[in-house]
Amino acid sequence: MSVGASTVQGRTRWIGTSWKMNKTLAEARDYASGLAAALRAEPGLAAGLQPFIIPPHTAIAATSRVLAGPQGEDDAGVVLGAQNAHWEESGAWTGEVSVPQVRDAGAQLVEIGHSERREHFGETVETTRWKVQAARRHGLRALLCIGEPGSVRDAGESAAYILDQARGALQGLSQEDLDGVLIAYEPIWAIGENGRPATVEELRKPFRALEAEFGETVEGILYGGSVNLDNAAELLGIDGVDGLFVGRTAWQLEGYLQLLRIAGRQGA
Ligand code: 13P
Repeated sequence: MSVGASTVQGRTRWIGTSWKMNKTLAEARDYASGLAAALRAEPGLAAGLQPFIIPPHTAIAATSRVLAGPQGEDDAGVVLGAQNAHWEESGAWTGEVSVPQVRDAGAQLVEIGHSERREHFGETVETTRWKVQAARRHGLRALLCIGEPGSVRDAGESAAYILDQARGALQGLSQEDLDGVLIAYEPIWAIGENGRPATVEELRKPFRALEAEFGETVEGILYGGSVNLDNAAELLGIDGVDGLFVGRTAWQLEGYLQLLRIAGRQGA
């Protein structure tokens, strides 16, 4: 684990949110300026934590400017991400955005392979591999999302399924590239309005498997899916969980700040 301050476990906790297809520019700026102000006013808020936020593409540049501070020299210490980027550098790919373009807008991380993109936009293990490689080639972190459907969970095959997704996306990477890879395990059945929170018991085995295979090589392994203010602390207590990747609970700044406080207390 190579970023920031350490917790008692010696690991930085990554606590972040994707806004998915939400927020106007004004809403994005408000959230980012409120977050930056809170982090500057309360320096202990992010102790042992690495906050990250992933706006829609339209708001990356504006969010980046706000987080950088008025003079561009007052960085709030928040890693900024993009929700997707194409594997090619440029070209005739209408509607797509490349890694150099999101980097140019201020992104330092690219989210890759979220289940919504696998389900609705044809993301495959192969395209996740190309995208991870593109992100690392341009010096951005890759946040690889993996997760199984409920039928796979019911068959008791969760660990095997997500290991296949991760192995397929990360195969052939050097250790230097893996140093900039985060994995987010997000069971499909636990995500969003129709999801139900996973229990700690359901997550132990998949995290044991991920930790055994990738714990020593990637930068961190996160959990996502129906994280809320009531379950965040116990989820962070699971062996192998290095952080949380959050949707709904963190779409309002107050929810995100509460999660940072819970994570900070939990690691203290
Ligand atoms: P929710 O926290 O809204 O379930 O979404 C999780 C997620 O998909 C984060 O990428």
